[in-house]
Amino acid sequence: MKGFNSAMAITAAGLLVMTSSAEPLPRSSKCESPLVQDKPLVDSIHLKDLLKCAQDLEDIAYATPYRNRVHGSEGHKNSVKYFKDTLEALGDYYTIELQEYTTEVTFGSSRVFSADGIDFATDSFEYGNNGTWTDVPLVNVANLGCNPEDIPDSVAGNVALIARGSCTFVQKITNAGAKGAVAAIIYNNAEAGIAAGTLGGVNDLIPVGGLTRADGLALAARVEAGETVTSSGDYWAYVDFGTSHNVIATSKYGDPNNVLFLGAHSDSVDKGPGINDNGSGSCGLLTVAKALSKWRTNSQVKFAWWTAEEEGLLGAEHFVETSTAADLAKIRLYLNFDMIASPNYYLGIYDGDGSRYNITGPPGSDVAEKLFEDWFDAKNLTTFGSEFNGRSDYGPFLDAGVPCSGLDTGADGVKTEEEMTIYGGIAGEPYDQNYHDAGDNVSNLALFPFEVNGKAIAHAVATYGKSWEGFPARLASNSTIPARRHVHARESGASKRHNCGVNEVLDY
Ligand SMILES: *[C@@H]1O[C@H](CO)[C@@H](O)[C@H](O)[C@H]1NC(C)=O
Ligand SMILES: *[C@@H]1O[C@H](CO)[C@@H](O)[C@H](O)[C@H]1NC(C)=O
Ligand SMILES: *[C@@H]1O[C@H](CO)[C@@H](O)[C@H](O)[C@H]1NC(C)=O
Ligand SMILES: *[C@@H]1O[C@H](CO)[C@@H](O)[C@H](O)[C@H]1NC(C)=O
Ligand SMILES: *[C@@H]1O[C@H](CO)[C@@H](O)[C@H](O)[C@H]1NC(C)=O
Ligand SMILES: [Zn+2]
Repeated sequence: MKGFNSAMAITAAGLLVMTSSAEPLPRSSKCESPLVQDKPLVDSIHLKDLLKCAQDLEDIAYATPYRNRVHGSEGHKNSVKYFKDTLEALGDYYTIELQEYTTEVTFGSSRVFSADGIDFATDSFEYGNNGTWTDVPLVNVANLGCNPEDIPDSVAGNVALIARGSCTFVQKITNAGAKGAVAAIIYNNAEAGIAAGTLGGVNDLIPVGGLTRADGLALAARVEAGETVTSSGDYWAYVDFGTSHNVIATSKYGDPNNVLFLGAHSDSVDKGPGINDNGSGSCGLLTVAKALSKWRTNSQVKFAWWTAEEEGLLGAEHFVETSTAADLAKIRLYLNFDMIASPNYYLGIYDGDGSRYNITGPPGSDVAEKLFEDWFDAKNLTTFGSEFNGRSDYGPFLDAGVPCSGLDTGADGVKTEEEMTIYGGIAGEPYDQNYHDAGDNVSNLALFPFEVNGKAIAHAVATYGKSWEGFPARLASNSTIPARRHVHARESGASKRHNCGVNEVLDY
């Protein structure tokens, strides 16, 4: 258990160092904390802290048998505990809520195929059965394997190699199984991609894997030429219901009717530890949440580490569905940080004004985009609009009419020549070559965007934590929100209200 226990011990030690260092002193009461300032907050975000958090998450993943942080897995439950414990160690700055959620997930899986010792890109089929075989010869199936006569008797005890097309996968696999094949490999009939799909439901067919058309044809040609090509395969999936939690930290101070909400997802896919996706965003938020706890804000600031994003934004959706319209109306802006340290990165800002992708968000999405653009511009850093398609945890917030923005450095999209000129890296390769794969770990993070994006998050928190000036009001809501004022906590004689009372309501 090196991972988790030592991680927690170091975190606690790190906090001791933090409180005895410069910057705002620990406050005996919230009113003694200075109002958040941009430069000191931004300057307090350091790469070493971001990386420490990323390493802790990797350790948490690698301490478990499947080496991942899938929703409901031990790796995810320990990630949730890590965020919760780190936030609780900050004292009483945040109210921390765990929101339980249960869904079906793949806890672990394998898709591996090799021929004569050489690995091929492969995929599994939905409802495909488990199967592992070693050094078993491939046998070509005539035509498309749709008729029992297409299958030669020689597939018995061997692996059937079949082209996609004309009939269902189930028909082909059934025919091969009936002649005694131990497994079926289906290759694509289209130029692009690996053959994959669904078998429609639970079945007792032989195991099956998919290949690209090019790989399948090349293997078939060798077999056809009389070569013995031996194959090995390892296909399995462990699917079950998993329960885990959203972690939501809400500052006890600041106006609860004008909330700045920031989120990242805390789960990974089953293939790897998910350190860029989305440990990087999670660690960006945690580091900013820690730094913010030394300051007072006028707006209430909420941070969320969502679960089950990888299963379809389920954790964030659950939050939005279980929130009242009145509570959602209090969110001035939701900011999302999903993958901010991609190895072959670009600097992306959600295209909330639609200038690049012609999809606009609710009013305010454009203003937040501009805030980030201006901040990067001032550092002479080029940014690009990133597609505002709702395919991360901000989707459910957009649907609820909440203005949204966020940063990302690219997932499985491909880097352009122009981006290579600006940021280096490799044009024509994915932004994250390890996207949803085992290599998405600390050693493959790009450090420059990790730090600069961490600082950009701090800039947004300092800006909107202090004031919503210039930011459009939410579209009128017909819910009445009773104004709770804590006059006693206000500094008397202050011409402008300092929000040093607990959850004081300000007029915007
Ligand atoms: C497939 O293998 C996994 C991992 O060993 C196991 O958890 C799962 O139950 C198996 N599935 C079936 C249908 O046997
Ligand atoms: C942008 O989208 C709108 C509606 O979705 C469409 O009418 C318009 O033609 C689009 N503009 C461009 C430049 O694609
Ligand atoms: C950005 O570039 C301008 C012009 O080249 C230069 O004057 C300025 O100092 C640069 N700013 C930063 C933060 O590098
Ligand atoms: C991280 O992933 C790389 C593959 O890109 C692998 O070589 C390395 O061993 C992994 N790190 C750890 C600590 O397992
Ligand atoms: C109040 O809001 C609900 C849902 O947002 C809407 O359906 C309803 O028409 C509104 N009522 C008034 C009086 O505006
Ligand atoms: Zn992902």
